[in-house]
Amino acid sequence: MTAQFSLAGKVAVVTGGGQGIGEAICRRLAAAGAKVGVFDMSADSAKRVADAVGGVPLVGDITKEADVERVFSEIVHKAGPVDVLVNNAGVASRKGRDLPIWELVREDWEFVMNINVTGLVLCCKAVLPGMIAKGYGRIVNIASIAGKEGNPKMAPYSASKAAVICLTKSLAKELVGKGDICVNSVAPAVIQTPILDQLSAEQVNMMLSKIPLGRTGKPDEVAALVHFLASNDCSFTTGQCLDISGGRATY
Ligand SMILES: NC(=O)c1ccc[n+]([C@@H]2O[C@H](COP(=O)([O-])OP(=O)(O)OC[C@H]3O[C@@H](n4cnc5c(N)ncnc54)[C@H](O)[C@@H]3O)[C@@H](O)[C@H]2O)c1
Repeated sequence: MTAQFSLAGKVAVVTGGGQGIGEAICRRLAAAGAKVGVFDMSADSAKRVADAVGGVPLVGDITKEADVERVFSEIVHKAGPVDVLVNNAGVASRKGRDLPIWELVREDWEFVMNINVTGLVLCCKAVLPGMIAKGYGRIVNIASIAGKEGNPKMAPYSASKAAVICLTKSLAKELVGKGDICVNSVAPAVIQTPILDQLSAEQVNMMLSKIPLGRTGKPDEVAALVHFLASNDCSFTTGQCLDISGGRATY
């Protein structure tokens, strides 16, 4: 019998895999047997994590089509067609500007939407023809509880994550009849990673106060949920947003 949640023989790419939640996901998927492509704009981080998990460092910016194209042909060439894509790379704000919407400039909005939404779409477009040809794939998108509730002073981030939740639903339905391909998202509340440096202490405390379990989550806890969604064992769940919010989510 195959081990539960085994990823033996699978090729997985994790965007933003160089630190934080992405790093924990890389470590978890590799431990389950996957060959992991660690896609990050920081070459040092991608290499550090790839070395640690016996994976492939993939250096590039998910918002640049030429980088995305190069990186995905690199992983296919080195490891084979991609079975699992985890769209994890994301930012909370531009230059720590957690401000009400009337104080934001267009660049603040576009910076966040470009990475959190457009970059994610570009990565999906890069892997989908291969997944459809193979009739197999798992895509896991990292959204946020902010995408369900709309955090004050985080309008671009909240809107971008609502977009991630909804495009997950659209894509899952578009893939019906194309084989065993599931697309899901997860919505974490505050997780202890360097992304919190992009927000004021006041903003982080506000978010923390809304978590019934009364603590921040850990990257490994998110990775455990992503692991299930990235595996064969997840076969009758698609288009969903699963919460990992210490009880904060109410729907
Ligand atoms: N930490 C939290 O509290 C929290 C809560 C909910 C959702 N999330 C989401 O989880 C994901 C990971 O967050 P984290 O806290 O680990 O963040 P992080 O800032 O610690 O790490 C993000 C990684 O993504 C990489 N990255 C950023 N922009 C990129 C780009 N354009 N191209 C390639 N790589 C890029 C960075 O270099 C970094 O290694 C994000 O999508 C974030 O929105 C985080």
